[in-house]
Amino acid sequence: MSTTSTLIQFRLNGEPMARQVESFHTLVEVVRGCGLHGARESCGQGLCGCCTVVVDGQAVTGCIYPALHADGTDIATIEGVAKDGRLDPVQQAFIDAGAFQCGFCTPGFILMARQLLANNPDPSEHEIRHYLAGNLCRCGAYPEIVKAVRLAAERLRALAAAGQ
Ligand code: FES
Ligand code: FES
Repeated sequence: MSTTSTLIQFRLNGEPMARQVESFHTLVEVVRGCGLHGARESCGQGLCGCCTVVVDGQAVTGCIYPALHADGTDIATIEGVAKDGRLDPVQQAFIDAGAFQCGFCTPGFILMARQLLANNPDPSEHEIRHYLAGNLCRCGAYPEIVKAVRLAAERLRALAAAGQ
């Protein structure tokens, strides 16, 4: 079988990158190929959210997102969330609320929770569960995940009120 590879260029957590990709390659394969392993392929069918990656500010399902579509985009992964050696408030809240067991699903949940809180700073439990419905946790840490998102929301609101 012959294939034709294409050079794509993009920014990955702010760093300019270029990769040769084939038409069948997915975005999660590209970011993992760049050495960032926080996004994981689990179901490979767009059903679990473990492969979540942010493209141009929008969370996408990396296992079904064609790598070719990432050309010219700004890609963010869980590895780019902490700044200056400090965890993001959502990351910290997941730790403080004990919102994971194996942690396999956690990067996807955190990226989606950050997107939720950017759009809705005070979500109800129902809104959190609804927004995160596409992310599956096989360990069943859902009650703690909801707690973590509410805790992060509270802290982010306090920071915003303090002008930070
Ligand atoms: S691995 Fe992509 S949604 Fe499950
Ligand atoms: S913490 Fe194990 S899958 Fe979610």
